[in-house]
Amino acid sequence: MKTIVVYYSRKGSNKYLAEKISNSLSCEIEEIKPRLDVFILFLMNIHLGIRSLKHNIKDYNRVILCGPIWMGKFIPPLSSFINKYSQQINKLVFVTCCGSTYAKKDEKFGHGLVFKEVENRLKKKCLFCQAFPVGLVLPDEKKEDTDAFMKTHLNDDNFKGEILERYEGFIKKLNLVSR
Ligand SMILES: Cc1cc2nc3c(=O)[nH]c(=O)nc-3n(C[C@H](O)[C@H](O)[C@H](O)COP(=O)(O)O)c2cc1C
Repeated sequence: MKTIVVYYSRKGSNKYLAEKISNSLSCEIEEIKPRLDVFILFLMNIHLGIRSLKHNIKDYNRVILCGPIWMGKFIPPLSSFINKYSQQINKLVFVTCCGSTYAKKDEKFGHGLVFKEVENRLKKKCLFCQAFPVGLVLPDEKKEDTDAFMKTHLNDDNFKGEILERYEGFIKKLNLVSR
């Protein structure tokens, strides 16, 4: 199965995750580049779409879209990617390194609501969605601490233990889906 990882990241965690996935699957990777990359405007849903990708999305059986969640929203760079390439996407997996925990996924700022939006927009093209809450790399007493997880970014030193186990499960699932 020909796969490409497409990602947007502001602080680096989703870039780290996207690169890790691309290495594990030995597949291509490309960064989403917004035409106007102004964070504060994104939060107000003001954006001008994204630049065209170098890779031809319709040449891939599967796109792995990776990026953060802000304010409980499917963020403009990722949403613009779906708008621009929906016809060319064959199958898509959405993956996020986000702040919301698995326990709080269905709350206002949880990743569960964003997953529902992706599934609704892609319908049968969406294979599945996967979250890697950044709190997974924090000690138990800090897992729910907003301040601590906002300051935490994935890297080779902290990508171990529970997050690594879940990541390995995710890669196995991707390999199973591709059979
Ligand atoms: C302004 C802001 C709002 C955020 N809102 C949410 C949210 O609603 N839900 C969530 O799960 N994470 C939220 N987060 C956490 C980010 O998704 C998380 O820090 C992510 O790892 C950042 O990815 P990056 O390092 O690739 O930029 C928010 C972060 C910022 C900076």
